[in-house]
Amino acid sequence: MHPALQIAAQLVCGSEMVVALQSSKFSRSKSGIPGYDELVDGGFHKGTVNTITGSSGTGKTVFAGQFINYGIKMGEKGMIITPSESAEYLKREMMSSFGWDFSNLEKEGKLAIVDVTDPVLRLQKSIDADPVDFLINFRKLVERKLEEAKPDRLFIDDLTAFFMAVEQPFKIRSLTDDLFGTIRASGVTSVVTIGTAFGTNQFLEYGADSATVLNRERIGNTLIRSIYIMKMRGSKIANSIRVLDISDEGISVSSLSPYS
Ligand SMILES: Nc1ncnc2c1ncn2[C@@H]1O[C@H](COP(=O)(O)OP(=O)(O)O)[C@@H](O)[C@H]1O
Ligand SMILES: [Mg+2]
Repeated sequence: MHPALQIAAQLVCGSEMVVALQSSKFSRSKSGIPGYDELVDGGFHKGTVNTITGSSGTGKTVFAGQFINYGIKMGEKGMIITPSESAEYLKREMMSSFGWDFSNLEKEGKLAIVDVTDPVLRLQKSIDADPVDFLINFRKLVERKLEEAKPDRLFIDDLTAFFMAVEQPFKIRSLTDDLFGTIRASGVTSVVTIGTAFGTNQFLEYGADSATVLNRERIGNTLIRSIYIMKMRGSKIANSIRVLDISDEGISVSSLSPYS
């Protein structure tokens, strides 16, 4: 809270009011994933960076796509940044699996899509490009696009490959802090998906406001999708692993544990 506000609140109402005001400092942004918000005491804090980690095919892109689609349905403006795969591929996947028509939402001006793999942006990663320079340019691109479109919700799909190429861990840390700082400064509520590769995901999770992990559990001969919350700054979280379901309607969190 702004210090002046805090003093004013203390003068007017005493310290209880300050506590009340502080606890409502972050309002929540509903994820749009049935069953998820209960795990984190009501949804993502507005204006924060939230990572979704998991190996390939665990449902990261579906989770984040649903977060965007839901926000737009609720009248918010969305932005998707695709650093690794082409935006066309993502749009096709979301349309054919769940009927979420991102191309149409883009035409209607409700969704901005930034395709980093588009040669026009001249940001492509080549073997020769210095990954640190690349990430610095990427951060600037994100800053510019957020200023232009002013979205309420942001989804960045799979950042891992970029950071993996940076060799020194301290540089990964500071580049993560720079990027996440830029995102927070814009006020947008963001979901960033990250793959599990050589521990790089840990740096990104460390710098984020919340971290959610998607997995597959082997129960006998069966693989079951699962989800748990690793952390959420300033919030209660559920301490249990839950079953994650993906169907034609999208993704949802069950009240069951894979082990019960
Ligand atoms: N309509 C559907 N019903 C059930 N599962 C689906 C459906 N559409 C896609 N899937 C599953 O969702 C998974 C894709 O998840 P995705 O979010 O792309 O993974 P990643 O973590 O790699 O981003 C695949 O395993 C796919 O089989
Ligand atoms: Mg994906």
